[in-house]
Amino acid sequence: MSKIPKRNRRDFLGFCGGTLLAGMLEGSTLMLGENDPSKNRESRRTPKKVIIDTDPGVDDAFALLMVMRSPELNILAITAVAGNVPLSCTLPNALRMVEIAERTDIPVAGGASEPLIRKLVTAAYAHGENGLGGVNFPAPKIRPVKEHAAELMCRLIRENPGEVYLIGIGPLTNLGLALRQDPDIAKMIRGIVLMGGSLSSGNVTPAAEFNFYVDPEAASMVFDSGIPITMVGLDVTRKVELTELHIGLLEAGGGRVSAAAARIARKIMELYRKQGNSGGPNMHDPLAVSALIHPEILTFENYHIEIETSGDITAGESVGWKHGPLWYSAPLQATNVDGQASSQSFRSNAKVATGVNSQKFFELLISRLTANTVIHS
Ligand code: RIB
Ligand code: CA
Repeated sequence: MSKIPKRNRRDFLGFCGGTLLAGMLEGSTLMLGENDPSKNRESRRTPKKVIIDTDPGVDDAFALLMVMRSPELNILAITAVAGNVPLSCTLPNALRMVEIAERTDIPVAGGASEPLIRKLVTAAYAHGENGLGGVNFPAPKIRPVKEHAAELMCRLIRENPGEVYLIGIGPLTNLGLALRQDPDIAKMIRGIVLMGGSLSSGNVTPAAEFNFYVDPEAASMVFDSGIPITMVGLDVTRKVELTELHIGLLEAGGGRVSAAAARIARKIMELYRKQGNSGGPNMHDPLAVSALIHPEILTFENYHIEIETSGDITAGESVGWKHGPLWYSAPLQATNVDGQASSQSFRSNAKVATGVNSQKFFELLISRLTANTVIHS
């Protein structure tokens, strides 16, 4: 409590009350650090089988810790990809999160160290050089599995046809490789929930969000694959920024997971202040995984989404049509393409999150990160 400025104390108590209320609504008493979500209605249903593909990354780390404390999800595997920082950091960071959450039952695989055809562009400015805000957790004791991420994805999807949800919270290179290796898995995947894209400007270029910016070709393969897509983009993730109040709650949580999350948050806030940034880290990835845990936190609209891959300044842009006809750019005179709109009629290929209940999201995030119950799938 000492870390929270006086003026926020009222907010702090209000937030705790909200978290408590959230718990009662969920059918269990969500006291900070004493959450036992296994008693709520949702978790009594069969947990969803998921594979989480990630580039930890500050918000990825929060998302991984959150899902490992969520009984609604049966985590078949975690796969690491290059993105926020190189694979040489994202893979050990994923292993560290599994150890912190005491979930070493979950296999972790390394994946692509660079995008399908482009050079890797990282985001150390937003995540620290090591991807965890600069917090030096001990080196992981556990090792990754020998299988490449793409092979592990294909094998698990074929072993569980029609049951596996993919959670993509980094560049989609690993899934692109899996689809290239075994295109038929597209029909066997239950759905993909991805953090990526934006219908309201990018965060790397004015057009492109980071995950799609890093590997536009992989993103395009996913949106053309026919896999049922839930897209949680910047349109909603910009509205969930971690604050000092939240960090105070995590520090009050008392468990190893909330303590680790708080350490990462404190360090990234320090980095931001040094950069002259007065804000906090957006919880992009935890909001995306919330779509599988408590989808009512978000509202969705059906869109037809295609990914720009040839633009010199727009590559990675997620372009969304809400209705037909699907007009493309005017054709060049040198081509014999007709100048009329595409003959394609409108076909939605993605549910796009366009609204979020930020309060409910943070109640979910904080209650899961402060839960002391180690959940095994
Ligand atoms: O644009 C935000 C996304 O890019 C998040 O997944 C963040 O972790 C980075 O990967
Ligand atoms: Ca990420």
